[in-house]
Amino acid sequence: MNSNMAFKEKKFKSVWVLGSNSKVAQSICIELAKKGCKELFLISRDKDQSLNFAEFLKNNYEVKVTIKIIDIKDKEFYNNQNNFKVGDFDLYLITAGYLGNNENAKIDLQETKNIIFNNYFGILPWINSIATADRIEKECSLWVFTSVAADRGRPSNYYYGSAKAGLHNFCEGLLASCHDKPFCVRIIKAGFIATPLTLSIAPKILCIKTSKVAKILLKKPHKRGVEYLPWFWRPIMFLIRIVPTKLVSKL
Ligand SMILES: NC(=O)c1ccc[n+]([C@@H]2O[C@H](COP(=O)([O-])OP(=O)(O)OC[C@H]3O[C@@H](n4cnc5c(N)ncnc54)[C@H](OP(=O)(O)O)[C@@H]3O)[C@@H](O)[C@H]2O)c1
Repeated sequence: MNSNMAFKEKKFKSVWVLGSNSKVAQSICIELAKKGCKELFLISRDKDQSLNFAEFLKNNYEVKVTIKIIDIKDKEFYNNQNNFKVGDFDLYLITAGYLGNNENAKIDLQETKNIIFNNYFGILPWINSIATADRIEKECSLWVFTSVAADRGRPSNYYYGSAKAGLHNFCEGLLASCHDKPFCVRIIKAGFIATPLTLSIAPKILCIKTSKVAKILLKKPHKRGVEYLPWFWRPIMFLIRIVPTKLVSKL
């Protein structure tokens, strides 16, 4: 087996997660633990939820769990790049994100800042610490959740969509710069997933379960590139990108 094939067969034994209280992240962690992951490093801002989830993982799977409580928009934390140090893991997963309230953001600068920070600005220093010159020479993966909302500005969610578009564009640049490196960048353009984030806004028929998300992603764990999730969002977003502005104004 050549080294490339051996990598494709390799299982993720150690995984680092930013935004680990996200239901999507939790389903991915559970699926990873089922598949033999031995170490999870979970970063979130809610201690109780994190402790409960860590307990659940330890009780049900043979996995070592470390939790770290951080609010990524904490100014003092953010101002020192040393705070963002990360260890070596097989997979780095970024699910932190914040939909926010588009209407409030128009009149409340704090809400605007929260949306930009939690989806874009607050994520970049982590990616800087992960994708170092040394690490991109190693066989490991970075998965980042962006959103189909990044594909076209729409009246209902353009604060969130523009922040995710920034993150998406940044990750696309990183993906291109690592195209000939062992380091795999996977950008996940998610459509509606059944989580608290979309509870009241998404049509149920278009919502995919978090367990399904985990299964799809772990079917090809070492995939790199940009991926719509599920796949049918690619043609949907193709159409949404080409319809005239008059029609988009209704979305
Ligand atoms: N659900 C969807 O339909 C959908 C669609 C497209 C893309 N996405 C993206 O997919 C990812 C996962 O989605 P989800 O539905 O699981 O979202 P979620 O339940 O809202 O989870 C997002 C996670 O990010 C964490 N987070 C937000 N701001 C933070 C901060 N300042 N510091 C630390 N952690 C922070 C949240 O922590 P707390 O638990 O403490 O709030 C939460 O655990 C997100 O990036 C989302 O934007 C989701």
